[in-house]
Order: sequence, then structure tokens, then C-alpha cells
Amino acid sequence: MVKKRRKRKLKIKRIILLLVIIIIPILIITQKENIKKYYLINTLEYSEETIEAFLEKDIVDNIKNKKYSKTLDNIINTDNYKQEYINEYIEINYLEKEKFFENINILLELGYKSNEINELYELLSNESINLLVEKEYIEDIVNIIKLNYFEEEKLDRYIKYYKKEKLNIEDAITYVNIGLDNKYYTNVTKIKDENDLLVLVNKYNQLSSSFKPKNLTTINSKYQWNGRSNQLTKEATLAFEEMCKAAAKDKIYIYAASGYRSYATQKYLYNNYVATDGFEDAETYSARPGYSEHQTGLAMDIANKYDFISKKDKEYTWLINNSYKYGFILRYPENKDTLTGYMYEEWHYRYVGKEIAAKVHESKLTYDEFIARKMK
Ligand code: DAL
Ligand code: ZN
Repeated sequence: MVKKRRKRKLKIKRIILLLVIIIIPILIITQKENIKKYYLINTLEYSEETIEAFLEKDIVDNIKNKKYSKTLDNIINTDNYKQEYINEYIEINYLEKEKFFENINILLELGYKSNEINELYELLSNESINLLVEKEYIEDIVNIIKLNYFEEEKLDRYIKYYKKEKLNIEDAITYVNIGLDNKYYTNVTKIKDENDLLVLVNKYNQLSSSFKPKNLTTINSKYQWNGRSNQLTKEATLAFEEMCKAAAKDKIYIYAASGYRSYATQKYLYNNYVATDGFEDAETYSARPGYSEHQTGLAMDIANKYDFISKKDKEYTWLINNSYKYGFILRYPENKDTLTGYMYEEWHYRYVGKEIAAKVHESKLTYDEFIARKMK
């Protein structure tokens, strides 16, 4: 009886031993992975709670060999966490910003990559980010923001104009900088430095009615058209005479037809044009008083012996190829009406100095675009 009991005890012991021998390796094998995983993440700075979440969500493989991610650490146990963005979260630099998690999720949904999101947060205010999440994905956005003529406060206007006009984004930015997303003569800026050689006067930039340039100088009578007495600023006058002289050497004879015009003169002219041609037509070729470049003493309408220069004249070709060398640019080129606000004026030249004139000439841009792109 005793023997039998002992035998049974021995049997139980054996079974237990056998079980232990079998179970322990199984346990080791199955838990090894978890232990290893735990160890791997534990070397980073993640909290216990986060590590639990990694194990539970089975995303240790995504985390291992990656640097610690504060973004992931902070988002993982929130409702904002989206498993599909795990690899992006790891790369996104954490920031203490309002709606940070909500916004990075939307940006990721829109198609922005983690590196773009990092740069967006570096380059833009949170207000602008809040605006971007309301819009569609914009390709190459980081490079666009880095353009030296990108102005953050105009972001909304840029995006709206870009969508509406279906332009390339660089042009959209340029045109909004000009002001073209608003109607002509609206959102007008009063020009601060009216005597500036590079002053931009157009349908969005207005001179005061009292402004009269300094140093107005009458052009040498031999370069005046039909005995007129046109004036420009002293510097522009000297440059104009130099240009006329150089042209004459090439047997090209050009003359000053209309230079400086006071506010009152421009008012008279504009009103006259409206009376004869009607408002709509007059607007395409005549500036309202206060908006004419002629009031700066830096603009000249140029004529040949017979009439204002036109495209077919040899004087036109000479000017197109040479005027920039003397500091003059064609101000209202062909097919640029919507940008400049004026129809093609083959005769209207603007003095900006030799250096800038060469740059404008090379850029093939209108002066309005050149300024909007901050190229001066
Ligand atoms: N014709 C030009 C645009 C002016 O009136 O100033
Ligand atoms: Zn003119």
C-alpha cells in the first residue's frame, strides 16, 4: 500500500518535472521576443505606459533602431493616434503648439510628408498652419515658402488666387504681391518714398496729389519733339540725353515727347480721354491722376521725327535692344496688359538707372513683376 503510494508520488513528480522541462523552454521562446522588445525600447526614453502601448499595438519593429520620438511618446495614448502614421510620427519633431496632433494628422492626410511638416512648423506661424489644414495639398510648398518674395501674411490670398486662376504658384505669388487679386485701384498703397529712383507707380501704388519730384531738369532742345519743353529728374534727363546721342551715332533719331506731368496735368488728360473715348477705353491707356508714372519725372514717351514710337519703327528696335544700357526700360510691354494695368505702349520708357535696367531687361519681366519678386 505504502509502496503503491510512493510509486504514484514518484509518477507525479516525474510528470511535473517533464512539464517543467517542456514548459520552461516554451515560455522562454515565446517571451524572449517580448523581453527583447522591451529591452530594445527601454534603452530609449519612452515611459512604461508608452512601451506597454508599443507592445499592445505590436509596433516595436517600427520603433527599434529609431531615435526617441517625443511626438510618438505623446500621441500614442491619445485618441489622435493613427497607426498608419506611426513611421511619420517618429520623424515629426514634437512642438508645444495648439492643436499640434490634430493638425499633423490632417497634414499627413492631405499628403504632406514628415520632413515637410517639420519645415512647415519651422517656417510658418501656427496661424498659417491652421490655414493650411483647411486647404488642399500644395506641391513643393516648402520651396515656395522659402522664395524671398513669399510673404506669409498673404498666404490665404496666394492659395485662393492660385486655385482660382490655375497659374503656377510662383506666378500666383507674384501677381498677388502686385495686388492683382484685388480690382485695379482697390487696396491701394500710398507711396512712402516718392523721390525713390525705383519707385513703383501703378494702379495699386499712389502718389500724393502734391508730389512734385526734386531736380526737374529740362531736356536739351535738340532732343525735344516739336519744340516741346519736357522735363525729367536731373539724373534721368542726363541719361535720356546720353541715350539720344548714342542713338544718333547709329543714325537713330529719338525725341522727348512727354516727360514729367503734374497731378493737375494728368487729371486734365485723363478726364479728357474719358470724355472723348469713354471711361472703359481711357482706363486701358491713361492713368488716373496720382497713379501716373509721368508724375515721378522718371517716365518718358519717346517719339521719332514723325510720331510716338510704334513697333514697326527702327527706333523701336533700337530702343528695345539698347535703352537698358542707359537706364531705361519699356514699361508697358505687349500682352502684359493684365499685369501692368495698361495696354501695350511702345513709346513709354521708364528710367530706373543702368544697373536695375539691365536686370529688368535680362529678367524679361515687367517692372511690376520685377518689384513683386523683390529683385531690385
Ligand atoms: N499712359 C500712361 C499709363 C499714363 O497715363 O501714365
Ligand atoms: Zn507715358
